[in-house]
Amino acid sequence: MPTFRLAVIPGDGVGPEIAEICQPALVTAAARHQVRLETSVLDWGGERYLREGAAMPGDGATQLRAYDAALFGAVGRPDIPDHELVWGLIIKLRQELGLSVNLRPARSFPGVPTPLRGEPAIDLLVVRENTEGEYVGVGGLAHAHSPEETAVEVALHSRSAIETAARFAFSAARRRRGRVTLVTKSNAMRFGYVLWDQVVQEVAADFPDIVSERVLVDAMAARMVQRPEGLDVLLCSNLFGDILSDLAAALVGGLGMAPSANIRPGQTLGVFEPVHGSAPDIAGKGIANPSGYLLSAAMMFEHNGLPEVARDLHLALTAALGVPELRTADLGGAASTAGLAAAVRERLDSELSQSP
Ligand code: NAI
Ligand code: MG
Repeated sequence: MPTFRLAVIPGDGVGPEIAEICQPALVTAAARHQVRLETSVLDWGGERYLREGAAMPGDGATQLRAYDAALFGAVGRPDIPDHELVWGLIIKLRQELGLSVNLRPARSFPGVPTPLRGEPAIDLLVVRENTEGEYVGVGGLAHAHSPEETAVEVALHSRSAIETAARFAFSAARRRRGRVTLVTKSNAMRFGYVLWDQVVQEVAADFPDIVSERVLVDAMAARMVQRPEGLDVLLCSNLFGDILSDLAAALVGGLGMAPSANIRPGQTLGVFEPVHGSAPDIAGKGIANPSGYLLSAAMMFEHNGLPEVARDLHLALTAALGVPELRTADLGGAASTAGLAAAVRERLDSELSQSP
């Protein structure tokens, strides 16, 4: 029986409760296809930061290279400055493992309420550049702690990072509905986003079968609310992708539904994580929606060459969410995290087993 070496980084807040409660469903989904999950749980996150002064070991990225994939819960604690943990863990991993592309699909599920009139069917994929742009971490403070205190934060947009994200987006569109929409702000910003326009136009020439269009980010925010149905792949910079993917998540039922993948094209090892944070307002109550985590695991299996495991997880979750009593509070239901996760597992054990 092949073994899948999984590193789980539960993190903080709702992260650990979701990761633990979902583990049996992941084991069952893999076992249905004769794959054994061998899981290590890594104690990286806020508690480790308070104990040892760092959210993860200095060689954390290297340690992850011993695994097939990493599943990450969330980081963030009210008693630690956010940038310390986000930079000390997830952004550090993205940069040190060269995880240059972030994938954030948003798909509506039958029965899961959306805030949009007419419940439009949404199926889009945000492809986000993941290591540069406004999040590259270049900048500084002048005249610190004086009335003239001034911050400089520089965005970086390299041709190579843009091209990597663009090629991934056009290839993904080929497996989907054949449309890439580049989102920039190249009317008001004259360098970085103009380079995005140029490089993406060059890449588009290699994909004549894909429809390619350009939309400014503010117009895109409006279009996602008014006409989301026609959108397929959205190609975005780090900042715009971060913001628009939360909007996309809200359109299909909220942050609790949204999965993501941090990958490097051509490399197996990726880090998969729900889009939401540690949700301190609901942590410890057992009511967090586990869907984003389960769908992130499905993306992981798909990326690692196990699409049948991904499909089963998807089918089981879709079936469970179709039952109003199995929906969590964020979806208007009253189910617990454990209730929904157990229902997914039961479906993986039973009714799906008739499918080929
Ligand atoms: P958040 O995503 O943790 O919470 C935003 C809202 O969504 C809250 O009302 C929360 O209850 C709700 N929510 C989130 N996940 C949910 C789930 N699974 N089920 C049901 N409801 C859910 O974002 P917020 O409040 O801005 O940040 C909280 C902490 O998380 C901060 O420390 C922040 O830095 C951190 N964070 C970490 C991220 C990561 O680890 N990748 C991403 C975003 C935020
Ligand atoms: Mg975000």
